[in-house]
Amino acid sequence: MGRIVYVNGEYLPEDQGKISIFDRGFLFADGVYEVTAVVDGKLVDHDPHMERLARSLDEIRLSWPCTREQLKAMHLEMIRQNGLKEGLIYMQITRGPADRDFRFPKEASPTLVAFTQTGHLIDNPNAVSGVKVITVPDIRWTRRDIKSVMLLAPVLGKQAAHEAGAFEAWMTEEGFVTEGTSSNAYIVKDGEVVTRGLSQSILAGCTRRSLFRLATDHGIVINERRFTPEEAYAADEAFLTSAANFVLPITEIDGNRIGGGQPGPVTRKLREIFLEEATAGFSASPD
Ligand code: PDD
Repeated sequence: MGRIVYVNGEYLPEDQGKISIFDRGFLFADGVYEVTAVVDGKLVDHDPHMERLARSLDEIRLSWPCTREQLKAMHLEMIRQNGLKEGLIYMQITRGPADRDFRFPKEASPTLVAFTQTGHLIDNPNAVSGVKVITVPDIRWTRRDIKSVMLLAPVLGKQAAHEAGAFEAWMTEEGFVTEGTSSNAYIVKDGEVVTRGLSQSILAGCTRRSLFRLATDHGIVINERRFTPEEAYAADEAFLTSAANFVLPITEIDGNRIGGGQPGPVTRKLREIFLEEATAGFSASPD
C-alpha cells in the first residue's frame, strides 16, 4: 500500500499526486522546502521549521499558500493518514505553474506538496558506529541561508560521498568547512564544540538551533567560528546535525580517523539529550 501525499489541498494516493510540467519548481527550482522529523507520531521542532519557511518564502518573494495554522494541520493530517510513527515530512512550496518565463508570473498560484518518509531516527545504527565524511568544494550559490529546492550541488556532493564509501560530504570554501550537503558540521576540541556561525554561507539548521539551547542548559560550550578540514582531522570528535539524523557522530574525515574511530563523549551526550527531548515530544519554542 502506497503513501498518502498532499497536493494543493488534496490528500491522494501517492501515484495520483501530480503537478504540471510547467511548475516553476520543476523548470527553475523556483521554490523552497522544509523537512520535519516525526517521533512517536509527533512533530519535532515544528515552530522553528515554520519560522525558517517564512523567512525562505520572504527572501524569494513568494507568499504563503495558506495560513501557518493550516500548514500545521496539514502536517498533523499527513501523520494521521499515513500512520507515521517515526520518520520525516517533506513539504515544498513553489511559485506554481506558468508558461516558461524567468519573470514572476502575473497571477502566481503557488504549488504546495508534501509527503512522508518512514525511518529509524532514534535507533539509528549509524549513531552507534559513527559515519565517514569526505570534503568537496562548495559549488553552491551564495544564498545558502534560503532553503531552496535548487539542490544539484548537494546531490553531486552526496553522490561523491556515496561513491567514496562515505555518508556525507562536508563542503569547503576558501579553505574552511561551510556545512554538509544536507546537515550542519561540528568538531569538538578539548571539550568545546566548534561550528560555523550563521550567515548567508550556510543554512540555519533547526536541529542546530535546538542543540545550542540544549548545550547551554547542560553547560556544554559551543564556539561559533570557521574551521578548516585540517583542524577537523586533528579534532577529538566530529558530528553533524539535521532533522533526518538529529546528532550523528563522525568517525572518519577524508580517511583520517577521528577520536580513535569511535563516537566521542561530547557527541554521545549531545545526541542523548537531544533524543530525550525528541522522545518527550518537544517542539522547541522560538527564542
Ligand atoms: N537538510 N544544512 C543544509 C544544507 C541542509 O540541507 C540541512 C537540512 C541542514 C540541517 O537543517 P535542519 O537541522 O533544520 O534539518 C543544514 C534536510 C534534512 C534535507 O534537505 O533533507
